[in-house]
Amino acid sequence: MKVLVTGGAGYVGSHLVDKLLATEHDVVVLDDFSLGKRENIQHNLSSPAFQLVEGSITEPGTVKKVMDGCELVFHLAARVGIKYIVDDPLRGILTNVVGTETVLKEAYRRGARVLFASTSEVYGRSKAVPFREDGERLLGSTSVARWSYSSAKAIDEHLALAYAREGLRVAIVRYFNSYGPRLDPVGYGSVVAKFITQALTGRPITVHSDGQQTRSFTFVDDTVEGTILAATMPAGEGQVFNLGNGREVAVLELAQMVKAITGSASPIEHVDYSAVFGPNFEDIPRRVPDVEKARRVLGFEAKVPLEKGLKVTIDWMKRTLGD
Ligand SMILES: NC(=O)c1ccc[n+]([C@@H]2O[C@H](COP(=O)([O-])OP(=O)(O)OC[C@H]3O[C@@H](n4cnc5c(N)ncnc54)[C@H](O)[C@@H]3O)[C@@H](O)[C@H]2O)c1
Repeated sequence: MKVLVTGGAGYVGSHLVDKLLATEHDVVVLDDFSLGKRENIQHNLSSPAFQLVEGSITEPGTVKKVMDGCELVFHLAARVGIKYIVDDPLRGILTNVVGTETVLKEAYRRGARVLFASTSEVYGRSKAVPFREDGERLLGSTSVARWSYSSAKAIDEHLALAYAREGLRVAIVRYFNSYGPRLDPVGYGSVVAKFITQALTGRPITVHSDGQQTRSFTFVDDTVEGTILAATMPAGEGQVFNLGNGREVAVLELAQMVKAITGSASPIEHVDYSAVFGPNFEDIPRRVPDVEKARRVLGFEAKVPLEKGLKVTIDWMKRTLGD
């Protein structure tokens, strides 16, 4: 099958591309390299089954061209990362809303199936933990820029489901803190990447606030497996799935694990949110997926234990930082 992966030079996208090529698909990647990296896809450039197009999801002509002959579209391209969103909310909103509408419209026009990569951010700071796909969303004021990412992705989900009513075959997945090799060590602020980089370079491991906020960390192989299942199983159509690991981990505990596995002498320091994100920042105290629906409908379960996934990621980062 010929498939399009938007954002295929990014962290999750490039792993997805590797898996799709390994399972005999022809893959077209559309990426504008605003956040993605050539080294993520370099090893595939010589493959006859791989095609790279540099361009934006916000350009209808480009989207039309790259989708030619594609039966399935994995739509991962987005402005990602709370720090980037807070720094430039307009760019985030326009990329994530206009770009997604452009991709959905073209897929609908030609009858291609779509997988849309959404986010656990859509739940905001809902108190209904673990988050169920049909649970409520709880967001702060529109004057707090961080919520624009959640809102844009939620509008994208609404759009996808509205197109589904018109006949588009689309599945939506909400990722929960995916981590693994190719995370940008200096990028948008994956907490895993940040802690490992700090630990390996001997700088203090900086934990926001008291570190009791919790997350669910999902190794990228699991993220990719769930993504492909949702995209290809008929039961996924018109549905939303949490793709995450059910284990709830406090951010301070993550810092301690990274320190222990790396054997780093870095101290763990607590910093105020406002020092990093400016005043008015609002964080999410607990973010944990209800994993039952993905298990029941897709047969998906995150398998890689955090300790094992961290070791793999740390080994990769050691090699990258050593280059
Ligand atoms: N990594 C996570 O834990 C996580 C969590 C929740 C949701 N997601 C979602 O998963 C998807 C992939 O995220 P990621 O972590 O791999 O981030 P990433 O930044 O590594 O990947 C996004 C890719 O999209 C590309 N891109 C951005 N704007 C574009 C545009 N206008 N046109 C074409 N390409 C563009 C970037 O260059 C990058 O390669 C995103 O949609 C993101 O919202 C990721």
